[in-house]
Formats: sequence, structure tokens, C-alpha cells
Amino acid sequence: MSATLSRTDSARPGSDRPLVDGEFPLTLEDFRAVAAMLHADAGIALSEAKATLVYSRLAKRLRALGLGSFREYCALVAAPAGGEERRQMLTALTTNVTRFFREPHHFEHLKATVLPALLKEARQGGRVRLWSAACSTGQEPYSIALTILSLMPDAAGLDIRILATDIDPVVLVAGRAGVYDEASIAAVPPDLRQRWFTRASEGEDREGWRVAEEARRLVAFRELNLIGAWPMKGRFHAIMCRNVVIYFEEETQAKVWNRFMPLVEPGGHLYIGHSERLTGEAVRHFESAGITTYRRRPGGRP
Ligand SMILES: C[S@@+](CC[C@H](N)C(=O)[O-])C[C@H]1O[C@@H](n2cnc3c(N)ncnc32)[C@H](O)[C@@H]1O
Repeated sequence: MSATLSRTDSARPGSDRPLVDGEFPLTLEDFRAVAAMLHADAGIALSEAKATLVYSRLAKRLRALGLGSFREYCALVAAPAGGEERRQMLTALTTNVTRFFREPHHFEHLKATVLPALLKEARQGGRVRLWSAACSTGQEPYSIALTILSLMPDAAGLDIRILATDIDPVVLVAGRAGVYDEASIAAVPPDLRQRWFTRASEGEDREGWRVAEEARRLVAFRELNLIGAWPMKGRFHAIMCRNVVIYFEEETQAKVWNRFMPLVEPGGHLYIGHSERLTGEAVRHFESAGITTYRRRPGGRP
């Protein structure tokens, strides 16, 4: 089975030689059609080295639909009537890996440096807004919520909200359910785990550990495409956008950072993924405040 192309093959446009030779041959032409749709829909750039990944994630869709080839699948998702399957394709091709308290230094920074002043303001009637952009199945926004609750157990009664967005509606359903298996919650510090999780009762849709109502009330899950329209108008005190722009081309990455800039309060923070870096115009407006942690310089563009 061949998963990658030689230089000569990749330069041959329209090649129908299989890139991956399996139950359903995936040709270069098919791969390029899938990659072009994913790029148009989500900004995700797939190199031909990802051909086996595309094959393995979509082969089950072909089986489920009773299709015989990727060519047929591409025709289906490209057609106006294929909208629902195109969303399924997006769900299959996005990588949703996440963890509670992933990159823990961000939550330590939030707790020690950002939240104390914000929570004080909230106690006096002020509003606090945070955004987990590309939140996947919810572990990231709930880690923010648990960090808040560790400082202020009654936070849900105040004007504190965490917006949690993702392009993939399937992960948002999981996030709203807020039920995680034992292995997932092992990453939650023990004191928070004991206080803010209860066993999901038998007979419920999902088995595992349910995050407390107090945390769920702090988080609002919404569908949002980082390369589409952003309906929000108000600014955020902190934005986490981690481990997603890594899938975009450099130019798209710079555009996304630049769009965040006016949405971060002056003096507010932007947290990015461990293998990402700020680029483009945004660089001038943020200063480093720690590992992959940036603070918007006070002043400048509103
Ligand atoms: C690897 S997960 C990162 C989750 C979390 N931020 C973390 O660091 O653990 C990447 C997420 O980005 C989402 N995503 C991919 N393209 C997107 C886009 N154009 N707009 C919004 N979300 C996107 C995927 O659906 C996926 O849930």
C-alpha cells in the first residue's frame, strides 16, 4: 500500500494512479478534490502526505453510504444535494484531540495573573468574557471554568461567561453534554475532580463523569468557523485559540491572529498552541507574557 507520491507523480495533474491502494482506490485527483473542499470550508490545508489519513477517515463513510469509489464520494459531496455528507466529511477530517488542562501553564497563568482582578470586578457587578476558539469536545472551556470555580465557587451566579466555539457541530454536542470518561478526567487536578464531577447516572445517553452544573452554566457552546463570519461584537478579557491554526496556511494564520486583535481587551490575553506562533500584523499589538501567552498592548487600535 502506497500512501505518498513521488515528486514525479505529484507533478502529474489529474493522475488516476491510486495514492492509497485499498478497498476503495484513492487517486490523486480524488485527494485533491477532497483537499480543495476542506480548504474552502474550514481553511485546513492538507498535503499529499495526508493521503492515508484521508483514506482511513473517509473509507467508513463510503462503506456507510454503500459507495464503490472515492470518485463517487467526491461527486456526492461536491453536489448541492450533498451538503449533509459534506458536513460529515468535515467532522471526519478535523482532528479533535484535546485534554483537560492541556498545556497547564496557560491555566496557571490565568489563575495567578488574569483571573484575580477580573473576578474581583465580577464580584462588584462587572462582566467577564473569555473565549475558547476551537474548543473541540469541551475540555478546554471546562478547564477555564474549573480554574474560575477554584477561585470563586459561586462564579456561575455572576456575569462571567466563557464562549466555546468550534466548526464541528458533533464536538459541540459532546461539549454541551459535558460527560467524560475516567481516562479524560484523570488530567483534572484531584481537588477539582472531586468537587466538580459526578457520575453520570445509569440510563443516561453517556456514561462517565458529568461536569457540575456550576461549570456548565459558565460555558456557552456555539458553532463558529474561524475563516467565516464572527458574529460577536464585544471584547474578551482572554482568548484561547490553541492547536487549530496549525492546520491552516501561514497567510490564513496571520489573518486569524489579526482578527482576534480588536476582540481582545487592551491588556487582555491571547493563548496559543505549543507549536504555533503569532505572525502578521498582530505581532505589533501583542507582547509576550509567558510561554505562548500574549498580552494585548494597552492603547493602539480599539
Ligand atoms: C486539535 S483540536 C484543539 C482543541 C483545543 N483547542 C486544544 O488545544 O486542546 C482542533 C479543533 O479545531 C477545530 N477546527 C478546525 N478548523 C476550524 C475552523 N476553521 N474553525 C473553527 N474550528 C476549527 C476542529 O473541529 C477541532 O475541534
